[in-house]
Amino acid sequence: MPGGLLLRAKPAQFRVDPRLARLLGESYRSTEQAIKELIDNAWDADSQHVWITLPAPLTINPIVIQDDGSGMTEREVRHEYLNIANDRRTRRGELTLDKKRAVKGRKGIGKFAGLVAADIMEVCTQCRGESTRLRIVKEELLRAQRDLEKVDLPVEAEPCDARDHGTTVTLSCLNTKFLLPQPETLRKLLALEYGRERDFVLLVNGEQLAHEDIPGQKFSATVQLPNAGTVTINFTIMDKPAPRSQAGVVMRVGGKVVGQPTFLGLDEDHELPPRLLRHVVVEVVADSLEEDVTADWGAIIENSVAYDEARKWVRDQIAHQVRQKFQADVEEQVKRRGRTVEQRLAQMPKHRREIARAQLQRVLQKLYGESEERIDTVVNLILDAMEKDEYWLVCEHLNQSRDGDVEVLAAALEDFGLVDLAVMAQQARRRLELLDRLDELASNPNTLEKDMHTALDRNLWVFGPGYSVMASNQTLARVIAEYTGQAFKGKRARQRPDLFLAHDAWNRHVLIEFKRPSHTIDRDAEAQAKKYRDDLTPSFGHIEVIVVGGKVDPTMSSHYPESDLQFLTYNALVSRARNALEWLLEELSMS
Ligand SMILES: Nc1ncnc2c1ncn2[C@@H]1O[C@H](COP(=O)(O)OP(=O)(O)O)[C@@H](O)[C@H]1O
Ligand SMILES: [Mg+2]
Repeated sequence: MPGGLLLRAKPAQFRVDPRLARLLGESYRSTEQAIKELIDNAWDADSQHVWITLPAPLTINPIVIQDDGSGMTEREVRHEYLNIANDRRTRRGELTLDKKRAVKGRKGIGKFAGLVAADIMEVCTQCRGESTRLRIVKEELLRAQRDLEKVDLPVEAEPCDARDHGTTVTLSCLNTKFLLPQPETLRKLLALEYGRERDFVLLVNGEQLAHEDIPGQKFSATVQLPNAGTVTINFTIMDKPAPRSQAGVVMRVGGKVVGQPTFLGLDEDHELPPRLLRHVVVEVVADSLEEDVTADWGAIIENSVAYDEARKWVRDQIAHQVRQKFQADVEEQVKRRGRTVEQRLAQMPKHRREIARAQLQRVLQKLYGESEERIDTVVNLILDAMEKDEYWLVCEHLNQSRDGDVEVLAAALEDFGLVDLAVMAQQARRRLELLDRLDELASNPNTLEKDMHTALDRNLWVFGPGYSVMASNQTLARVIAEYTGQAFKGKRARQRPDLFLAHDAWNRHVLIEFKRPSHTIDRDAEAQAKKYRDDLTPSFGHIEVIVVGGKVDPTMSSHYPESDLQFLTYNALVSRARNALEWLLEELSMS
């Protein structure tokens, strides 16, 4: 060895500042996370390679992290490495000296990460003809507690070949409280940040880190293009959004990544949900583009025909994958809300069901990635709006939502085209026609209760917005048949009333008695209605009773004090519904 062994005995100390105690308390989520700190240091030192060796299971081998970066001189070890809590960026700027990389170092404590995993950390570094070795024993640091600066750290320096540069950190006596670091876990952790870097090759146990290590749903394809030759796409949709600087497509030409990730214009395609795009990381391998790469390897020449061709193909591939994934996710989201949404959709008339489904898709697309709670809120609003299908009901909802939310929701609704005015206007007109026919029916002296029943039991919206989601089913129909069968036997069978029992998803029940339009609702009918209510309450809990007929005895107040009993004329019913619809149409035509 030139110059022979030259040991310097003078010990070094940590130079600390008062923030140290707090900083040392910094913890790492895993050994792999701790190791990443040391790789960040290799990055900051402008290394081109980092070799990470992890101990095989059941061995007592150390963890070794070796880089070919700038290394440190003895002086730098003493004054920079050992200067704890000293911000490297204020010391040396935001970019690295040689490769102009964005510096990852922050608080000057990253080096301690090694000591989370191991009891002994040895640093051996070569720079400008000096090889410097430092050994840190965790036990000694812990014993010194707050007086870290009093701990003597043996620093040995010796000359070396002036061309040598780099740093090796060896972590031994690994902490048995931690699981041994797993190569797979480490690769996943590093892949996104470092797997697609130009000029920074990471090898874990000799194997180079690659795009494939990025965790997520994967897809690959290769094509032969007339100008661009062989082009391969390696596509990953991550479970979580990638950091902004990482999402998108990188080109790899001749093994080297060109420039920064971009979306090749896909971010302007309005059909692709932007939130989903942020999960997309793609590597495109196109070795025949080598001629078209700019001299600084920062981009591919814009007007390259081959690049244009490759780009088009890549864009189509990505758009297709993203659309598929999106479809699947939205279906999944609908499924997750499953029974409730499906039930409510199933209750809608067919033409409305399709519109509601389309609206849900649109909203889920816009809300992709939002919290489940927000999605739920809007999904329910849409279903409400589509079920009840009255514009003012949506407005009511908006007014009821808490102050801050109104604006947000209003904007959202407008944005989503939720309130589909054209559909609503059409619906309202159709309903008005139905009301005209009801009117005719009610004024015909030959109309029987069963005719009114048939006309109304599928159009409960006539009774008001709260009733549009109500419906009957076989069980309810049977209950009513049995009830009237028992209560009106023998001679009374001729007085058997026409009753209809409906419920909604929230288990509210309403009993409607249809009288023929020639009939006047009087005190007897009132007593009868109370009896229905009392008889049926034990089976259904609270139950509302509505009696509709041709007239209501003027001695009975139309607004019955007990709100669970209502007496209505067909006229009043129809005109109330008509007013609401006309008002709605007017509102719609104004907007
Ligand atoms: N592998 C390395 N190669 C060269 N210098 C290093 C290396 N690791 C650490 N250093 C030097 O030691 C300093 C302290 O490192 P560290 O404790 O990780 O804090 P930070 O990275 O926040 O500055 C770094 O700023 C750098 O100057
Ligand atoms: Mg660091």
